[in-house]
Amino acid sequence: MRFLSSASVCLLPFASVVNALAWTATPFNPSAIPLAVRTPYLSAWLPQGAGAALNDVWPAFWTGSTLGWAGFVKVDGTAYTFLGAPAVSGATFSKAVQKSSRFTSTQSIFVLSAGPVDLTVTFLSPVEPNDLVKQSIPFSYMSISAASTNGASHSIQIYSDISAEWVSGDDSLTVNWNSTTTGTVLTHQVQLSSPTVFSEISDHTQYGSAFYSTSNTVGATYQTGADVNVRAQFINNGKLANTLDTGFRAVSNNWPVFGLAHDLGTITAATTPVVFSVGHIRDPAISYIVAGGGTQSRSLYFLSQFTTSAAVISSFLSDFSAALTRANTFDAQVQTDAGKISADYAAVVAISIRQAFAATELTLSKTSTGAFNTTDVILFMKEISSDGNVNTVDVIFPAWPIFLYTNPTLGKYLLEGLFRYQASGQYPNKWSVHDLGWCKLPQALGHNDGLDEAMPVEESGNMLIMALSYALKSGDNSHLTRYVRILCSLRWRWRRLKGLSSPPCSINGRSS
Ligand SMILES: *[C@@H]1O[C@H](CO)[C@@H](O)[C@H](O)[C@H]1NC(C)=O
Ligand SMILES: *[C@@H]1O[C@H](CO)[C@@H](O)[C@H](O)[C@H]1NC(C)=O
Repeated sequence: MRFLSSASVCLLPFASVVNALAWTATPFNPSAIPLAVRTPYLSAWLPQGAGAALNDVWPAFWTGSTLGWAGFVKVDGTAYTFLGAPAVSGATFSKAVQKSSRFTSTQSIFVLSAGPVDLTVTFLSPVEPNDLVKQSIPFSYMSISAASTNGASHSIQIYSDISAEWVSGDDSLTVNWNSTTTGTVLTHQVQLSSPTVFSEISDHTQYGSAFYSTSNTVGATYQTGADVNVRAQFINNGKLANTLDTGFRAVSNNWPVFGLAHDLGTITAATTPVVFSVGHIRDPAISYIVAGGGTQSRSLYFLSQFTTSAAVISSFLSDFSAALTRANTFDAQVQTDAGKISADYAAVVAISIRQAFAATELTLSKTSTGAFNTTDVILFMKEISSDGNVNTVDVIFPAWPIFLYTNPTLGKYLLEGLFRYQASGQYPNKWSVHDLGWCKLPQALGHNDGLDEAMPVEESGNMLIMALSYALKSGDNSHLTRYVRILCSLRWRWRRLKGLSSPPCSINGRSS
């Protein structure tokens, strides 16, 4: 744990902010609204300040840095922005007017009026606690549907792009990109030209690729190029030019953007949504210390099921309506359960869930033959809006209830990395390690020098409480028995530090 004075994404309801809004905010207006929030590195929010509509400001990474993500709609030839704050010289457009914002545990839903049409823009970041493959897919959906508000028919085209800000914390670095323009899915892929594995700049990962995709349905178009050119092309023509910019350059050098557009034709009633997916894949995901001082490269769990990015994107996009159904069921269950405490409590739980899950990544190791070892799962968590430590015990502890509630096994996977490291005998102190890596996700390299932040009473107590509550909730005693020596020694140290005597310790007949 570390308290920093820098701005952080702090999600507390402030009634005074709610009152100032020009739109309806349900159940309240938080200080940042999750847009695409799935992992420590796929984390796009709409910062609110005193209240910001979806098209008032740029989406921001959790640190507050801009993530270029723009959206325009054309209605009967008139262009409106609905997402982001783009300036496009040489093209005329208005701003759609936000009517409402609403969030659930998995979705943030905005309704904006674009002349005689209402656009419903839904950001779905799936929370899939009982499906390890789906939970670990680092992708999010944006879906958009349009409906006439005056009974007349209207011609609609929809556009969206991302910038290369999704792949680096340093906009002066060079990126390259490519696109898949045939087949059932249009995808733009962008990455650093000189990636550095297992490294970060300003909390952004410095390797791997971002992907922006949509179904390649009739009337879908694509374009890559300088932000003003690609956006002006859509604003002036209602479609993209199907051209690709190959002048690879820095993120901020004539800002390359990756645009996709759909022509919905003439509509009256609400349309079937057009769906975009945004994601970021890196492999390996985590470097983890193992017995003997070596390190193990671990990969995101979903890679055990998909061998190409195209395959996972295609599966993710075609799963949209089923994912939405599962999300609605999950949201309703959380609302029912948390609502038994109070409506305010249910709202705070709902705004917290994507934030909690997106601090984590599910990983697997490989066997000596290079196959994924699906029995070796470790869940890693980043200490976000703080110092970036890996699997900080006192940061896992406040998040613990959401894992126990949704799937206790995820809690076991969170503790496993800590127990396994401590059982390797490399950590010299006799109390619980504070974390698995100092300011260093994705490097979980332990603290063999014993110089981690010393919080012996709190961390040892937290580990004991979490190990016991997992066993009680799940009926699975395997951690208690496998790590009995560690648990007994944490208990002994905790009691000593509290000035208590230590009676003999045993778990299931095994003692330390
Ligand atoms: C795009 O580039 C990446 C990285 O060089 C490569 O792995 C991928 O296959 C390319 N995709 C296409 C569609 O060319
Ligand atoms: C898979 O991982 C488990 C847990 O770490 C380990 O016990 C087992 O030996 C591994 N299997 C192989 C084939 O490496």
